[in-house]
Amino acid sequence: MAMERTLILLKPDAVQRFLVGALISRFETKGLKLVGMKFMRMSPELADKHYEAHRAKPFFAGLKRFMTSSPIVAMVLEGRSAIAVCRKMMGATFGSNAEPGTLRGDYGISNSYNLVHGSDSPEAAQKEIALYFRTEELLEWKPANLEWIYDAGEEL
Ligand code: RTP
Ligand code: MG
Repeated sequence: MAMERTLILLKPDAVQRFLVGALISRFETKGLKLVGMKFMRMSPELADKHYEAHRAKPFFAGLKRFMTSSPIVAMVLEGRSAIAVCRKMMGATFGSNAEPGTLRGDYGISNSYNLVHGSDSPEAAQKEIALYFRTEELLEWKPANLEWIYDAGEEL
């Protein structure tokens, strides 16, 4: 599986609970490379676009209120199979049944305030990254320890 980029959001509850550093640390420790990051507020218009697939769902109004209520951190992370890796690290949608060892399992218990968003497919990642970042805001750089994060003999 090739290198991928994914959009990760640290949701308003993560910012309010001062968990930004702890959550970013988990992704960094895994070996995911940061290529873009911003501290921002999700506008109602952005919430409509981001959660377009959920607009008809009964929880949409509450979800939109939550996501626009307080600042968020938006990040683009890069790594091998980054989309699936991040989804696995996040754990199940509801904190109350997310497995220990996952971000939602370790840091939360709420079913709607679930700390983190991650793109769920390559198509979603491409669409979502473009909603939050301009091309020039995504930085090309090579981590000094890349050959130790991945076996130097492996094909990246
Ligand atoms: P996300 O999109 O935020 O990464 O979360 P997800 O894929 O695990 O969950 P998804 O089904 O896409 O739902 C998006 C967000 O809506 C809220 N939600 N509430 N009350 C409910 O039944 C319900 N279902 C979903 C959660 O905040 C979820 O992350
Ligand atoms: Mg989702």
